[in-house]
Amino acid sequence: MGNRTFAIIKPDAVRNGNTGKIYDKILKADFKIIAAKLLKLTKAQAEEFYAIHKQRPFYDELINFMSSGACMILALEKDNAVASWRETIGVTDPKEAAEGTIRKDFATNVQENAVHGSDSDENAEKEIGFFFTQSELIANQ
Ligand code: RTP
Ligand code: MG
Repeated sequence: MGNRTFAIIKPDAVRNGNTGKIYDKILKADFKIIAAKLLKLTKAQAEEFYAIHKQRPFYDELINFMSSGACMILALEKDNAVASWRETIGVTDPKEAAEGTIRKDFATNVQENAVHGSDSDENAEKEIGFFFTQSELIANQ
């Protein structure tokens, strides 16, 4: 199991002023932030990032949403980071998310659901590499 994952604080959460509260949850769950940047994704970046969902009915809306405002882009470090971060954020639909999870507390609905988390070690490395250079990762300096 890997010790890094990739996270996004999505445009709804940044817009609603929840970035600081989500940082607090990240740090309380013992993740170390090893890289961070505030970025408004282009449509092309959002399309490439979520290319796996291209055939899904919600794809166009998802791309519009993800490119609708600033995102906080993060690389996180912790033992078993991928699974631990997905547990911290909760399931995709906030109506079904467990108490105390980030999506339960901050998501608006199944699409505008506050945060992203990688779903495997392999995708975590790919996603970190999509947004950060190796020298931007604090752990590598
Ligand atoms: P993510 O990739 O953003 O961490 O979310 P996830 O693994 O929990 O969910 P996934 O199935 O990968 O879906 C990616 C994102 O697409 C939006 N979505 N909308 N309208 C809908 O029914 C629907 N379903 C998914 C959400 O923003 C979801 O996080
Ligand atoms: Mg996903």
